[in-house]
Amino acid sequence: MTLLLNGFELAKQCRLELAEKIKKLPRRPKLAVLLIGNDPASAVYVKNKEKAANEVGIQSEIHRFDTISQNDLLALIHKLNTDDTVDGILVQLPLPAGLDEKEILQAINPEKDVDGFHPVNLGKLMIGENTPVACTPKGCMKLIHQAKEDLTGLNAVVIGRSVIVGKPMAQLLLRENCTVTMAHSKTRNLPELCRHADILIAAIGKPKTVKADWIKENAIVIDVGINRLENGKLCGDVDFDDCFDKCAAITPVPKGVGPMTIAMLLENTVEAYCSK
Ligand code: GUN
Repeated sequence: MTLLLNGFELAKQCRLELAEKIKKLPRRPKLAVLLIGNDPASAVYVKNKEKAANEVGIQSEIHRFDTISQNDLLALIHKLNTDDTVDGILVQLPLPAGLDEKEILQAINPEKDVDGFHPVNLGKLMIGENTPVACTPKGCMKLIHQAKEDLTGLNAVVIGRSVIVGKPMAQLLLRENCTVTMAHSKTRNLPELCRHADILIAAIGKPKTVKADWIKENAIVIDVGINRLENGKLCGDVDFDDCFDKCAAITPVPKGVGPMTIAMLLENTVEAYCSK
């Protein structure tokens, strides 16, 4: 029997636990979100983050700009860095052309970096220190643990080497004693590599790429992809219907990794508050 890893339900449970915790805090944690430009997908993501934050009792402060200069954006980040009532800062990506993303992300106080994208936090993750961890990989780990507690010695294959997902994902799996292989667009014979994976993480960005014959019998399969098909429906990077029977556990798309990403943002905000 395949276990369906329902991220929608798990995220709901995480949010309930956070709401209980927040009720007992002396003040509401505050998350500042910076949205620049007119990317419609980013606008939807930010709206969802704002709604989720408010529902658990996190105050959200959205700073929206059609355009802003690099210097003005840096000045705003410095202001938020020194504002004691702001616990978390998130700059929605991608930034419009003309803004230097690296410089912007590095300007955020690492202790308020609820996305876990600051180089200091990525470095701390690498050396095994306690640090804010990027929300999507953190959510993936919680989903994996729904299927299996102890991951020691398992072969994990991560497809995708982004700083937002693939690289921190590999570190988290390594921290839990997996043998981790990172695959990417230049990897040779990807299907064969995947067939050795007890845990397979697909962050490819191409719809329904992973097929049943890529999958080891009883693997745990986590699908990070969100692709819109021509018929308007969402699908992942894994061909869910093809792979389902072969897996021990698999995430659907939608209602898999996506809701967990937002729940982990809320968790990181509360953790930033509590570590002050
Ligand atoms: N754009 C797409 N995903 C993310 C995310 O997790 N954080 C931020 N800041 N921007 C994103």
